[in-house]
Amino acid sequence: MEIIRTIAELRARLVSETGIAFVPTMGNLHDGHLHLVKIAREHAPCVVVSIFVNPLQFGANEDLASYPRTPEQDCAKLETAGADVVFMPSAEEIYPTPQQITVAPPPVADQLCGASRPGHFRGVATVVLKLFNVVRPTVAVFGKKDFQQLFILREMVRQLNLPITLVGAETMRESDGLAMSSRNAYLNPAQRLEAPRLHRALRQVVQAAQGGQHDFAAIETQTAQYLTQLGWIVDYIAIRSANTLLPPEPREHELIALGAARLGTTRLIDNIGFAL
Ligand code: PAJ
Repeated sequence: MEIIRTIAELRARLVSETGIAFVPTMGNLHDGHLHLVKIAREHAPCVVVSIFVNPLQFGANEDLASYPRTPEQDCAKLETAGADVVFMPSAEEIYPTPQQITVAPPPVADQLCGASRPGHFRGVATVVLKLFNVVRPTVAVFGKKDFQQLFILREMVRQLNLPITLVGAETMRESDGLAMSSRNAYLNPAQRLEAPRLHRALRQVVQAAQGGQHDFAAIETQTAQYLTQLGWIVDYIAIRSANTLLPPEPREHELIALGAARLGTTRLIDNIGFAL
């Protein structure tokens, strides 16, 4: 496995590759990330993983400075998982000058996570497009845990005619149901015990919807109130169309229950796709 830090060296290394599967990450890797690497292996002879904590997608009051950075452990895990190349650029390498040209994401980027994180998906789409242009993959693998991110990136690929197939990977969870996330490391022991409740609450949302409760707004409000009573600060609990991420039309069958909520200062997200 090679570790490469500059765009010029990466381009030189990849120029003769016939097929590349790409897994972009921000590092502090856990089994969810490694699952993406495993899927990438099935799609192309060369697997490239990037580790870059992208300043453009963090808001002014967010955790850019404290975001966990563990490059040595990450590289050891990637070696075992079978990555061929790790791209670990500096911020100056990716943004040598202010990024004045950006990808404007579709309106749905202002909803759900975008409502409390203005500019976040613009930053994500912009860095992913830049990374795509450097790595030039045939396939890129993203986790469904960040469903809205995957949705927006699919729209970017489709609307900008990028010659890349996006693959969505299932969410990897701890044994108590908590979705694996680098941010779980911020939780204190009491919060860590409470954290899987977000997933359980979303399962209840799915059960209520599948059990014939048609008033989705009521389910969303009740679930948000329930979590709030238990000390969560809820950003949203929402039932959406899995195909548009908009509120479902009558008789839509492919749905998704999504939630984002904070325990203390740690923001957790999760979702469950379901059929009606
Ligand atoms: P990061 O949060 O490091 O996640 C990298 C990839 O891992 C994303 O595709 C994410 O959906 C996936 N992932 C995270 N937790 C997962 C889990 N529990 N199960 C399965 N997949 C999981 O998402 C980003 O970085 C950034 O926004 C990025 C796309 C790299 C752009 O900067």
